[in-house]
Amino acid sequence: VQPLRLGLAGLGTVGIGVVKIVQQHADLITARTGRPVVITAVSARDRTKNRDADLSGYAWESDPVVLAQRDDVDVFVEVMGGHEGAARAATEAAIAAGKDVVTANKALLAHHGHDLALAAEAAGRVIRFEAAVAGGIPVIKALTEGLAGNRIRRVMGVMNGTCNYILTRMANAGLPYEVVFEEARQLGYLEADPNLDVGGIDAGHKLSLLASIAFGTKVAFDHVELEGIGNVSIEDINLADDMGYHIKLLGVAQMSGRGLEQRMTPCLVPAESPFGQLQGGTNMVMLEGDSVGQIVLRGPGAGEGPTASAVMGDVMDIARGLRLPTFGQPASTLQDAVPAKSATP
Ligand code: NDP
Ligand code: HSE
Repeated sequence: VQPLRLGLAGLGTVGIGVVKIVQQHADLITARTGRPVVITAVSARDRTKNRDADLSGYAWESDPVVLAQRDDVDVFVEVMGGHEGAARAATEAAIAAGKDVVTANKALLAHHGHDLALAAEAAGRVIRFEAAVAGGIPVIKALTEGLAGNRIRRVMGVMNGTCNYILTRMANAGLPYEVVFEEARQLGYLEADPNLDVGGIDAGHKLSLLASIAFGTKVAFDHVELEGIGNVSIEDINLADDMGYHIKLLGVAQMSGRGLEQRMTPCLVPAESPFGQLQGGTNMVMLEGDSVGQIVLRGPGAGEGPTASAVMGDVMDIARGLRLPTFGQPASTLQDAVPAKSATP
């Protein structure tokens, strides 16, 4: 049996998590997919950096574009980040070289997902991105597989763990935004550009990807009504609490006669509701389908293990020969998203 050979671009939090699963669960992966999954080559910026894994058996490529085109790579695993530069160039190069792609990069897909999906389909390749939305929660699998027979009515969720940490910590400890923001920075929760988190952009990327799958529309991140949490004060939180509410950065996507509504904004939610009870860095997504009703998925939205778990789920689907289209249906059949301006939060 031929092994499935991975080229792994990125050896940070997620990349090292992938290395550990491939190494520690080799038998389980072979038993479940019918073939071994191996890493043949890796790439990162700094070859001398001490990393928490044994990389001695892997070829090193300093240029991820070269890695993506290697003959001994079947699947290009992109866990570098960034929606331009190396991540985009290497993903395009991988597709052009006839490789399948697995990525955790929501920014890349929110900006270029449609074009990448078209290119992949034209080349007979697949792009999978479960890890890009809500980390370890298999929400894309839920939409594209388990709920595939439903017309989706609504997708709603808390999809940025850092914002949920900040808001719950402010509420629980009575601390102002600036103090908790600094705490989050010191704990290493914030993205290199913190505005991706607190500006709601990261969560908006994720919502736009789920909306595309749920409603069969081209990814329309530019149409997401975005408001981050930077203006949420401790006074707002206390006032909400007095009325029996908590403030959450909540995303909603729904299709109506007016078009596709996509909002990612701070919202009041009843304190005793499942969303109101969501603590710390946890994510939660509610999917509503016409046949199934409401499904709620809750779990870790980030971190080495959870995110690598989602990456490996995609890799193992490819090892099994499961070749689902990127957004749940062929990219050429996705409709233009007509934005509906919402009047009420
Ligand atoms: P890190 O910053 O921890 O790691 C990024 C890795 O990519 C590093 O190893 C870095 O190299 C390498 N890299 C960056 N630029 C280049 C380049 N130009 N050429 C070669 N290598 C490069 O990121 P994460 O692991 O946290 O995130 C990776 C991706 O996963 C991002 O798209 C992120 O949004 C996504 N993601 C992350 C989650 C998380 O919990 N961390 C959750 C869900 C998604 P070096 O180490 O040498 O600097
Ligand atoms: N910055 C993101 C978050 C990482 O806090 O949820 C996971 O996508």
